[in-house]
Order: sequence, then C-alpha cells, then structure tokens
Amino acid sequence: MYDKANQHIAQTVTNDKYRPKYHISSPVGWINDPNGLIFYKGEYHAFYQYYPYDTIWGPMHWGHAKSKDLIKWEYLPVALAPDMEYEKIGCFSGSAIEQDGKLYLVYTGASENEQGQHVQTQCIAYSDDGINFKKYEGNPVLSADDLPEDCRANIGEFRDPKVFKHGEHFYMVVVAKSCETAGNILLYKSDDLLKWDYVNSLVQGDKDNFGVMFECPDLFSLNYTDILITSPIDINRKGHRFSNTSSTLYFSGNVNLKTGEYDYNHYDEIDIGTDFYAPQTLFDNKERRIMIAWAQMWKRTMPTNVLKHNWSGSFSIPRKLSVKNDKLIQVPVEELKQYRKNHVHYENEHIKDVREFDGVYGDVCELIVNANINQTNNFAISLLKTDNEHFVIHVDKENHKIVVDRSCIGDTILGNERIPVNFRWIPYFDENVKLNILIDKSLIEIFVNDGEYAMTFTAYKKGNDAKIEFFADGNAIIDIDKWDIGIE
Ligand code: FRU
Repeated sequence: MYDKANQHIAQTVTNDKYRPKYHISSPVGWINDPNGLIFYKGEYHAFYQYYPYDTIWGPMHWGHAKSKDLIKWEYLPVALAPDMEYEKIGCFSGSAIEQDGKLYLVYTGASENEQGQHVQTQCIAYSDDGINFKKYEGNPVLSADDLPEDCRANIGEFRDPKVFKHGEHFYMVVVAKSCETAGNILLYKSDDLLKWDYVNSLVQGDKDNFGVMFECPDLFSLNYTDILITSPIDINRKGHRFSNTSSTLYFSGNVNLKTGEYDYNHYDEIDIGTDFYAPQTLFDNKERRIMIAWAQMWKRTMPTNVLKHNWSGSFSIPRKLSVKNDKLIQVPVEELKQYRKNHVHYENEHIKDVREFDGVYGDVCELIVNANINQTNNFAISLLKTDNEHFVIHVDKENHKIVVDRSCIGDTILGNERIPVNFRWIPYFDENVKLNILIDKSLIEIFVNDGEYAMTFTAYKKGNDAKIEFFADGNAIIDIDKWDIGIE
C-alpha cells in the first residue's frame, strides 16, 4: 500500500498554476487537516490527512513533510496508509509525541463493524527515524468501551486525539458525541501512551452555541492561560463570526488536569476568513506555540479539483500564538523574514483616488500597510488585480468594518453555507489600521493590527497579472513595505 501510494505520487504530473510557493500544499491528490505537528530531533514535522489518488476526499493516509524553518518543506514518503482492518475507512486525524527518542503518532482508526456501523477508535504507530512507522500490535488503544456512558451510542464519532505530556503523565484531548445535536471534548490520562483512563468531559457542547460536533481539539498553556482550540461543525452564525459551514473556535480559561474541569471565560472564532479549518499546534525548542491549519473548507467547490490540476488543498502559514487579555493573537512565524527579497518602502503617501506604486506588485509576496483613515470614509487595497479580476480589502469607516471580498476573482466558488462564500468582515473602529498581508498564488492571509484578527482566503485568479492598487475617496495616508518571497 505504501509503495503503491509513493509510486503514484512520483508518477503523477500536476498543474501548478495555483500552487502556493511558501505554504505546504498537497504534492498530488487531496489533503485536509494538519496532523502530528511536532518539533522532533531538530526539525519540524507536519503530517496531513491525505488521499493521493484523487483530488477529492478518500480513504485517509497520512502524508508527511519536514522542515528546518517552517517555511521551506521537504516532502517525505507517506507515513501511514490504511492497511489494517481497524482503519479500513482511513487513518483519520491525530497528533505526534516524542518518547524515549521514538516518534509516536496517535491517530483515529476509522472502520466499519459487522452491522455496517461506522466505528472510530484511537491507535498508535511509532518510528525510530521519524520517517518509517510501524502500527502498534495492541491497536486500538481506546475504543467505544472507553467512552463515558453518555457517548457510547455514537461509536462512529470518537476521533482526533491530541496528546501532550504534563509532569509525569500523558494526556489526550479527543472528541466524542453525547447526542445527535452536541459534541463533547474528552480528557484521558496515561503513563505509557498505551493504556488510557478517562478523566472527564472538558467541554460539553450544545447545538445553540457550539454546533453539532467538535473536531480536532488541542489544549495548551500560553501566557498563564489554558487555551482549548477545536473545529465545530454547523455552529450558529453570530454577527461576523462563524460564517463557514465548519468553523474554528478557541476557549481561554483554566484547566484542572486532575479533575478534567475546564473553566473558560472567553471564546471566539480563530480566523474569520473563508478558508481555515482544523488548526493544530506544536511547541518548539524556542518555546513557541505554533499553529497551522488547513486553508480550505469542507463542502466547497475546489478549482484545482474542477480543473483537474491533480492536487487540492494547502496549509496556512505557521503562526506564532500569544494571548492578550484572554484573546488569541496570531502572527506569521519570524522565519518568513529570511525569505524576503526586493524590499520596496514608501512613507507618508497620500491616496486620494486610485494609486499604484512602483515595485508594489506580485502574487508571491508580503505586504505591510499602515494606513491613517482620519480623512477618508473608504480605503481599499485591491490584490491579484488583472484586467477584470481583483481581491478587495475595504476599510469602511462609516460602518466600522473591514470587508474582504473575493467575488470578482476567478471561477465562482460555491459552498454549503446559507450566506455567500465570497465576503467576510470584521468590526473596526480605529483611525489607524495595520495590515500584514501574505499573498501566495491562490492563498491570501490577512493579519490585522499585529495579529488581533486573522483572515484566510483562497482566491484563484485566471489572468496572469497580479497588480496591487490602493484607493481612497477622501485622503488616506499610508506607509507601505513590500517584499517578494523567494523560496527557491
Ligand atoms: C476534520 C476531520 C476530522 C477527521 C478527518 C478525516 O476536518 O473531519 O474530524 O479525523 O477530518 O479526514
């Protein structure tokens, strides 16, 4: 199975018109969630939910890439293929942890029982070299019998283990479902990664507030706050928040690992863009908490699939996390700066109508714009502009919003949502705005005011041009820094 997958990947030719240059993307076939993110023996490893044989979801493998700096990645052979009975539907999402020099992957085996019911259990694979993995003979290490009473009816909804070590013990956060309309995030404890004891339910979902199911939980301490992140399905829209069919969510609070009680005092969406799901974090030797997500969304048309480009899906830029007043702050990791080239700088420029600037152009670049909008009602930046396409970031002072609009670019993207999948907005009240924008072919990430808000979008422009244009109906005063990002 492994040879077949690796050969298929090596032999398949892809069309790379839309392929990001400095983000992880699927080499061949489909990817979704990042899995097993870890800093192991001096290198970063990113695994991913992977179906190499088509550009739609199929029986899940784990793809694998590693990097010395989180930006330039080397793609490795497939790490897990679903070759066991207990994972015949796929090796679903999970995490990685180092123990005695070995790399352990803890993942969900998805299968079917004799009655044709979907079954999910937690499994282990391990490796001495971080590349070749062996499935543990005692798999699965957690199954429906280990679920608390109220979740046992849903044996097909028990997945996405994220394992961490605290003191002498290992802990696992994993999702389950207590009834048709609500998910649960459960905590387990272990001394050896193989035998697990149930501790408690950290968060009990409810349809009105948290959707019908949680996916991909992660729990970590940051700036004396315990952050729990997860990806809820069908969470209700609240103003500008939770507009995607599946969203991302963080809670900030305090956890008691002994009792498994979690008190949260704040929660919010992690990224307000159209394409951001299933984020996971790692902790590295520089004591940084770094998050990477799938930069796509379930139930969307995906142009590289429709156009038969033979690949589909990419990841967000790795983001360094911090907490300020219970809020999660995200900024691109500083390693990206090593790849900046051709710096262009403008200061105190007045925008009174439409303006372009020499050297401010491109679709593989980074742009930082500081704008004062005191004397204008509307200020906008158009990205990826061709003769008849553009991607717009619009600071609308009267309505106190920053609106992002990808409706005028490339093929129409359709989704499952009740509202259009081309507009997203965040509230905004200040007269100075700082936008840090990463453009990488079909990916755009926007960080507002040093990571107070993050917004991730895919945008597949048809034309070759990639102009960047500024507009104000009054007078906006701006500073610009722009770099190409050179990865080769
Ligand atoms: C999240 C998810 C996970 C699951 C995986 C399957 O996107 O649905 O819950 O493990 O994808 O590919």
